Amino acid sequence: MLDKAWKHLMKDGVGIMGMYGMGGVGKTTLLMQINNKFSEERCGFDFVIWVVVSKELHVEKIQDEIAQKVGLDGEKWEKKKKSQKTIDLYNFLKKKRFVLFLDDIWEKVDLTEIGVPFPAPENRCKVVFTTRKQGDSDPEIPKLAKDVARKCGGLPLALNVIGETMSCKKTVEEWRHAINVLTSYATEFSGMEDKILPLLKYSYDNLKGEDVKSCLLYCALFPEDDLISKKYLIDYLIGEVL
Ligand SMILES: Nc1ncnc2c1ncn2[C@@H]1O[C@H](COP(=O)(O)OP(=O)(O)OP(=O)(O)O)[C@@H](O)[C@H]1O
Ligand SMILES: [Mg+2]
Repeated sequence: MLDKAWKHLMKDGVGIMGMYGMGGVGKTTLLMQINNKFSEERCGFDFVIWVVVSKELHVEKIQDEIAQKVGLDGEKWEKKKKSQKTIDLYNFLKKKRFVLFLDDIWEKVDLTEIGVPFPAPENRCKVVFTTRKQGDSDPEIPKLAKDVARKCGGLPLALNVIGETMSCKKTVEEWRHAINVLTSYATEFSGMEDKILPLLKYSYDNLKGEDVKSCLLYCALFPEDDLISKKYLIDYLIGEVL
């Protein structure tokens, strides 16, 4: 198993590797073995960083752990706000080649929010994570996923939105259905310039419940590129009895 995981991770095209399995199956143990292999061989990486994420996700805690491991911590670091930590980590890590181990993920971890540059063939960095969440799905889904991705026409916003929407779809039927709906929306909006509309509509239609949809629509009342304070937004929504 170690050999298989190692060989996959070391491929040039692999930036992120996830290991799924039920509790106690040996994910952390395998991750540690990979970590140890890096410690022995280094393989040209500047930093090998290990972070335990666990059930309660705290971005700042992850930032602090990474900072400590790369030597950015100290009195000055502790005084910084989360957003500054993000910038500092990013500026430091973008010049380094790192492998980041994230053990025991329960929900979405946003690398950008933490300040971790996205692993890409250009920076040759790697991120390896483990989770109990079920990742196994029908072997036909990757093919359908490529179809969906193609419909995004290389637009990052579309890829982000649809990626999030599709992340909970586990069956081939759901994926085929999504492709059909997206195709029909594309004809519906075919007179318009905006290629992203069908994807946004699909994502919107997939929101669970009318309340959640109203909450999203409410955000459209704010000016474009305006910062929306979570606290104020919640107050407004309470005021609207949403
Ligand atoms: N290949 C193996 N052979 C024998 N024992 C193993 C093996 N892999 C793991 N174990 C043992 O199984 C137990 C659980 O392993 P581990 O903590 O790695 O599981 P896990 O998948 O990370 O669980 P969790 O989801 O709860 O974090 C540990 O006691 C570990 O020593
Ligand atoms: Mg574990």
